[in-house]
Amino acid sequence: MREQELIKLLDDMSIMEKIGELNQIPGEYYKETMTATGENTTLNFPKELIKTIGSALNVSDPELIVKIQKEHIENHPHHIPMLFMLDIIHGLDTTFPIPLAQGCSFDPELVKTLSSAAAKEACVSGLHVTFSPMVDLCRDARWGRVMESSGEDTYLNSVMAKAAVEGYQGKDLTEEGTISSCVKHFAAYGAVEGGREYASVDISERNLREYYLPPYKAACDAGSGMLMTSFNTIGGIPSTANKHIMKDILRDEWNYDGVVITDYGSLSNMESHGISEKDDVLSEYAINATVDIEMCIGRYYQGLQKLINEGKISEKQIDDAVLRILKLKNRLGLFENPYRFANSEKAKEICRSKKMMETAYKAVNQTSVLLKNEDKSLPLKKDEKIAFIGPFLDSHDLLGGWPGNLKYRSEDKSVLDIIENDYPDNHYLFAKGCEMLGSEEPMLKRRKLPFEENQNARNEKIDKAIEVAQKADKVVMLLGEHPRVGGEITSKVDIRIPKIQQELFDAVSKVNENVIVVLFNHRPLDITEISGKAKSILDVWFPGSMGAKGIVDMLFGINSPTGRLSMSFPYGVGQEPIYYGLLPTDHSTQVSDTFVTGYIDCPLEPLYSFGEGLTYTDFEYSDFSLNKKTLAENETLTVSVNVKNIGQRDGYETVQLYFRDVFASVSRPTKQLIRFEKVFIKKGETKEVLFYLTTEDFKFYNFDMNYDYEPGEIKIFVGHDSRTNECKSIELM
Ligand code: GLC
Repeated sequence: MREQELIKLLDDMSIMEKIGELNQIPGEYYKETMTATGENTTLNFPKELIKTIGSALNVSDPELIVKIQKEHIENHPHHIPMLFMLDIIHGLDTTFPIPLAQGCSFDPELVKTLSSAAAKEACVSGLHVTFSPMVDLCRDARWGRVMESSGEDTYLNSVMAKAAVEGYQGKDLTEEGTISSCVKHFAAYGAVEGGREYASVDISERNLREYYLPPYKAACDAGSGMLMTSFNTIGGIPSTANKHIMKDILRDEWNYDGVVITDYGSLSNMESHGISEKDDVLSEYAINATVDIEMCIGRYYQGLQKLINEGKISEKQIDDAVLRILKLKNRLGLFENPYRFANSEKAKEICRSKKMMETAYKAVNQTSVLLKNEDKSLPLKKDEKIAFIGPFLDSHDLLGGWPGNLKYRSEDKSVLDIIENDYPDNHYLFAKGCEMLGSEEPMLKRRKLPFEENQNARNEKIDKAIEVAQKADKVVMLLGEHPRVGGEITSKVDIRIPKIQQELFDAVSKVNENVIVVLFNHRPLDITEISGKAKSILDVWFPGSMGAKGIVDMLFGINSPTGRLSMSFPYGVGQEPIYYGLLPTDHSTQVSDTFVTGYIDCPLEPLYSFGEGLTYTDFEYSDFSLNKKTLAENETLTVSVNVKNIGQRDGYETVQLYFRDVFASVSRPTKQLIRFEKVFIKKGETKEVLFYLTTEDFKFYNFDMNYDYEPGEIKIFVGHDSRTNECKSIELM
């Protein structure tokens, strides 16, 4: 439909139709698990609202979507189709590695491929919008939702945000295999105080703009069809009511004309924020902050009617919101084709197809991070007698928090299946060793997860594991967080592996010094004890539907792990939030050896830092050079470095480029990632890697909060990870 036709449609709509567009209904209503009105109302949506509702959440069956859409269009006064939305965080029926692991790939093309694959499954399933990518900057591992983001670095998050939007949306949203993205959670949800779920956020305008906002902007600039507000307050103002970030920055500065949707109930939750208990007051804040759709509660419906009737808001404000929604529906081609590409027969071919599984398999080694590999204990040699021990050995659930379609939660092969099937050899010994959780995890009991309650059973499992470990040359231990203890409402103050598993690790490492740990996690964990004893640590995060095959093939060297940390691992939870590139302080090591920043009982640096990760070969850097000593506006700095593969296997190296603005009108980070490139280098070969920078790359919010660069020295670092000290200087003019 042409824009003027949309405007004509808008003019013809009644105010109730318009308000209907601004509301969303929980899909449960259509699944008869929730009735709309009547005495047992579990949803206070009156019939006339349902008749004009603009969208639904959590319906993912193509036939049901077609049925709902058909009836809706027939009953709607202007036959306006609905939007169908769902959380597709790391895949729908095929689950890919969690987003934090995808960030570790340092490969935007991979993120684009995985997002595009997820979009294909979603599109044929009848969906129009996914609530992804989540691009909240995450620097506190206590927060369980770090798994949904690309980690602690602004630049990496921004690159991955763009890639995800392009993957989901393709070139044209009317095309098959595409869905609209919805970038979230605007803004700065990752900075919740203490890593505490749903806590408040209080950061300066400078930090907000410098570190937290750029990834959202990258997604908006990439054309994300939608953006979601966050639950948290910033400086006491809930994001859903925050005119400054929503109207001043998002709409007016960034010219974002996409649809803004609240998080689930975040408009209504402003009552518990202590803003107001009145629908109209909350709705007035939201409409003035240019919120378009309220997710699933219905208070916008009540509130907006009152505001219009009392003349407190103009119908123009409603019209602006409705037009943005109609434009997104039009971008999706819904007016011409309200069912888009929903097709249950085709879905059976596309979803979890061999091709999808191949895509999921290829992602596993690219997102896994080899943190340690003493004595080159990995890859395993075929003639070694290996014991495989741990609660993840026979687990079919390697999907982690928030997989798409829960019905596939435990459908995939386990590590044990793969070894027995693909590596049939009598060298190998197996023991589960323990359950994932012991009864000493009281808080988790609320989650109805399986616990080991029987002490005798617990002792027997450990004894069997010890017996098996004693007979082996090496022990591969498969340990980690419970697959459902990640994502929303999983903040923790203890970020070690469950105690029952630590007990197993201690018992096994006492009888066999060659322990290799395969770690399953949603967040950086405190693995300091494990790191001190294990020869190798391979972090596979939650690797998705093809995780088991991907892991085993990595262990035996069919593939090499090539991931690099997107988030730092602490020495202990007391170090959180911890991240690379801290601001320098007035008590840095240059001033004194005693009066220095940090702790007296823990290093300042993390245990494993951003960008770290090994692989099954080694690389050597040389000939690091800059083509200029000074850089003025409109000039380009070329950074060149040679990287040689000095190992015995071909491999990938992720070359990282950092900078430091040594003196500026505000204190600047000791290091900031500004470019990276993942290069494949054959053994014995050397590759020249080039980076190009301009003064644009060095702009920041200066003393007067103007976004600009300042003349002076810039240190340029190149290297394997954020700990590199290989640097050269350039003078900005
Ligand atoms: C949840 C989450 C958000 C999700 C939404 C819809 O509470 O905060 O990330 O997209 O509700 O499920």
